[in-house]
Amino acid sequence: MKTTTFLAAAMLSAMTAGATGLPVYLDETRPMEERVEDALSRMTLKEKVAMCHAEGKFASPGVARLGIPDLWMSDGPHGVRAEINWNDWGYSGRTNDSITAFPALTALAATWNPTLSEAYGNALAEEALYREKDVMLGPGVNIYRTPLNGRNFEYMGEDPYLAGELVVPYIQGMQKNGVAACVKHYALNNQEQWRGHINVELSDRALNEIYLPAFKRAVEDGKSWSIMGAYNQVRGQHACHNELLLNKILKDDWGFDGVVITDWGGAHDTKEAALYGLDLEMGSYTNGLTSESAFTTDDYYLANPYLRMLESGEVPMSTVDDKVRRLLRLNFRTAMNRNKPFGSVATPEHYAVCEAIGDEAIVLLKNAPATPKGQPLLPIDPAKYSKILVVGENATRNLMAGGGSSELKPKDIVSPLDGLKALYGDKVEYTRGYTSGRPMYGHADVIPASVEDSLRAEAVKMAREAGLVIFVGGLNKNHFQDCEGGDRLEYALPFGQPRLIEELRAANPNIVAVILSGNAVEMPWAKDIPAILQAWYLGSMAGKSIANVISGNVNPSGKLPFSFPVRLEDNAAHHFGTISYPGDSIKQEYLEDILVGYRWHDTKKIPALYPFGHGLSYTTFEYGKPTLSAKTLSPEGTLTVSIPVRNTGMRQGKETVQLYVGDEKASVVRPLKELKHFSKIDLAPGAEQTVTFTVTPDDLKFYDPTTASWVAEPGKFKLYIGSSSTDIRATAPFTLQ
Ligand code: BGC
Repeated sequence: MKTTTFLAAAMLSAMTAGATGLPVYLDETRPMEERVEDALSRMTLKEKVAMCHAEGKFASPGVARLGIPDLWMSDGPHGVRAEINWNDWGYSGRTNDSITAFPALTALAATWNPTLSEAYGNALAEEALYREKDVMLGPGVNIYRTPLNGRNFEYMGEDPYLAGELVVPYIQGMQKNGVAACVKHYALNNQEQWRGHINVELSDRALNEIYLPAFKRAVEDGKSWSIMGAYNQVRGQHACHNELLLNKILKDDWGFDGVVITDWGGAHDTKEAALYGLDLEMGSYTNGLTSESAFTTDDYYLANPYLRMLESGEVPMSTVDDKVRRLLRLNFRTAMNRNKPFGSVATPEHYAVCEAIGDEAIVLLKNAPATPKGQPLLPIDPAKYSKILVVGENATRNLMAGGGSSELKPKDIVSPLDGLKALYGDKVEYTRGYTSGRPMYGHADVIPASVEDSLRAEAVKMAREAGLVIFVGGLNKNHFQDCEGGDRLEYALPFGQPRLIEELRAANPNIVAVILSGNAVEMPWAKDIPAILQAWYLGSMAGKSIANVISGNVNPSGKLPFSFPVRLEDNAAHHFGTISYPGDSIKQEYLEDILVGYRWHDTKKIPALYPFGHGLSYTTFEYGKPTLSAKTLSPEGTLTVSIPVRNTGMRQGKETVQLYVGDEKASVVRPLKELKHFSKIDLAPGAEQTVTFTVTPDDLKFYDPTTASWVAEPGKFKLYIGSSSTDIRATAPFTLQ
């Protein structure tokens, strides 16, 4: 659309031409930096400043005179959002913007499968191209610190290595299509409460060991073309113009050559924005979700106020040139890239990607017999039951509605009820069991107790008469659930679900609980329920994957990307009281330091209900004896560890073999062990495969704040190889020289 018209304008204005007859900046055969310098040299100061801020909700200007098109952006991580009005948050009501809803990023993380992450990025980029978007606002890699964070569902879990391994192929799969990823929210936006201003204080170790590594991988290995600053403050300065995070770490240390984009409304000061690393200001004077103001984009911090500061010499011209170089690079890589493929939307191929991710994301948390002498309840044998009762609002609810900026308008949705009916037909009955009201921002519907009681009574009555009960509940995208702009208010399941589950169980012991959420939930009822599946938000094909796993057509292989604590107080961030979470409204201190998630549970010996890395299968895997290539590792050397894994059950299945490393004695606090490698393998019944990992001294290091460098202390270390962070099947000691 845009490029052709603009090209004509550019040809007219061309002053110098290269071998192709095109001006240098338009000549894609010329090196990128030559093109950038050429375009920059043709621009007026006003044109440069115009590029640095929005012109509409999701667009920023190019230079029409030079044939440089505008940049078009869209949320978000899980699909291309429906079109928003030019300058308010209303949906523009188009009929051609329905898309594929891909699984939420927590689900992607639960696959532990980088190949699927690449497929996700690629399919999403194809949809972005169809919708003519240049920049997709995602993926998010903020670390899962507390189960109350309303936006955890958009992120990749509690472990920086896992998130890093998955974010890189997502970006590569996307950007090979000429669509930029915008990795967010950099950094430390780990809660929604007071997200616009809360000042995060944390140690250099926590910053470097836990909260930055996934962003670093996204930049250094994924080569992300853009990154989004966070709303919160970090060490007293807003993250969107932050000298430490943006200038020092991102641009100097990591060599980022792309564009720093604000979160919508994340800029607060012209001089800071000019000097401290921000390149493109979006959404100012809104709260990022709903509220508007009368300000025009000319009033943005990086608009007229910036122009005045540049003209008066208060900030140097080099600041705007640096920003514009980055914006030109982004434009050449995306909007002006003439080699981009055509896009496609809601295709069978994209649905297949959704389903494949869903199939591998679902985590079998528990699978016990319903009666003392029986078989594990799952996979279900439909011949045994004449009536299968599905209970729960999430079996039919559109879980892509609500949630904030990741909200989607899917073309097709297969709900869990649809999926189960497709397999079991008329055997399936449905009742709602509980209700939660509409998805709204800023407030939630209050459900009268009488409604709750009557829905529950009806479900319990039907459960008594059914052969099997499949409860499909969890959270949803309402405010105070898995939703942007607010955190959860309780760790328990909402809307009366705990009581409903207990009463259903009392009425019928053949009960499976399927929890759809992007967060851990309290499960005091878990001991009484024979089979539990964690099935996330799986997007358009959710019901297919859920039915695949319940029926055994697919053997589950998902593993938890974060711990499920027994009680909220067992989570590290909550252990230290309100100054740690949510803070005192002005600031918060990450007092658990580096002991986030399983690092805390392990080191402090506080068992989680379901630990990081946990996930069962319908088959069994036996791990053999590990073999180490040597007993010592030299500071420049490597060490390999090999372990045979055999499928000892009756079904084909996938297993994620996890390698953790522990420092036996250190001069600083270290977690008992940390994930350093993993490998997902696929084994036929009876088959065996040897998995080999290469360990390097980098796997043993901690961040030393006194020297600002990574250090491995000589001495004893231990490798832990397991099926989860607590189901360790083998250990092997070695010494670092
Ligand atoms: C969110 C971002 C999103 C942006 C644009 C903000 O409220 O925090 O993640 O990309 O809005 O919708």
